Amino acid sequence: MRGIILAGGSGTRLHPITRAISKQLLPIFDKPMIYYPLSTLMLAGIRDILVISTPNDLPLFQRLLGDGAQWGIRLSFAEQPRPAGLAQAYVIGADFAGRENSALILGDNLFFGHGLPDLLRAAELRRNGATIFAYRVDEPQRYGVVELDARGKPLAIEEKPKAPRSHWAVTGLYFYDGRAPAFASKLTPSARGELEITDLNNVYLSLGELHVEKMGRGFAWLDTGTPESLIEAGEFVRTIQTRQGQVIASPEEVAFGFGWITGEDLQRLIAAMNKSTYAARLASLLE
Ligand code: G1P
Repeated sequence: MRGIILAGGSGTRLHPITRAISKQLLPIFDKPMIYYPLSTLMLAGIRDILVISTPNDLPLFQRLLGDGAQWGIRLSFAEQPRPAGLAQAYVIGADFAGRENSALILGDNLFFGHGLPDLLRAAELRRNGATIFAYRVDEPQRYGVVELDARGKPLAIEEKPKAPRSHWAVTGLYFYDGRAPAFASKLTPSARGELEITDLNNVYLSLGELHVEKMGRGFAWLDTGTPESLIEAGEFVRTIQTRQGQVIASPEEVAFGFGWITGEDLQRLIAAMNKSTYAARLASLLE
């Protein structure tokens, strides 16, 4: 299983400064935004990961993340010359994904919740079709929206509908079988000029091979598209971490927990981080 992180977004409702650099390089509380989707893929057991970003920012991501060896994973990097839709990740990442199953996650999506690793593992283990995650939100018109029948089977997915047929938003985490690059290559741009991930999901839906997992209310799926949601996400992370005295969404912690790196490796990583509070939280893992 391979993983792709699409991290080219600027956040149109943020200050133009964030158009100078990808917002996924900004911090959410004590760590860069991209650590959140990265650690989510790692929690699914995925160790081969492609990071896609703009030509401008790819070198910054490379400098921040390196080749992944420090976390027991393999990172590679690819440019998205201009943002032309989420499904373009499978055009750019066609060779990387090959015919293997893969997961795609958006660089600005934060997931948190008890049981998240199990939910991810279940999707990872499914050999055929696609798996998406539905999350109940107050303003579904801002997202892809899935309509479900009484048994939880998907009936339709619409991208940012004016009159949403449900409150179930489609989150920015998708698992596909090996056909995703081939299906993506046949998509045509939507009215907004993008290769829509919703169109790719609808291909699987029309084949009867789209699985929808509900993320119940024990999960947090957070947004970072507005100044308000950005600070709310930071507050959320701060609240949880301060209360529990733990670090969440940490690639070091996941790698150590899975035994991909040793205690000595972790010690070395911490030593290289000076006196950051992030490092202090990690140090408590070694006690
Ligand atoms: C994209 C997708 C949408 C999905 C959302 C999740 O929207 O097109 O279906 O619900 O991500 O974050 P965008 O952020 O590109 O507007």
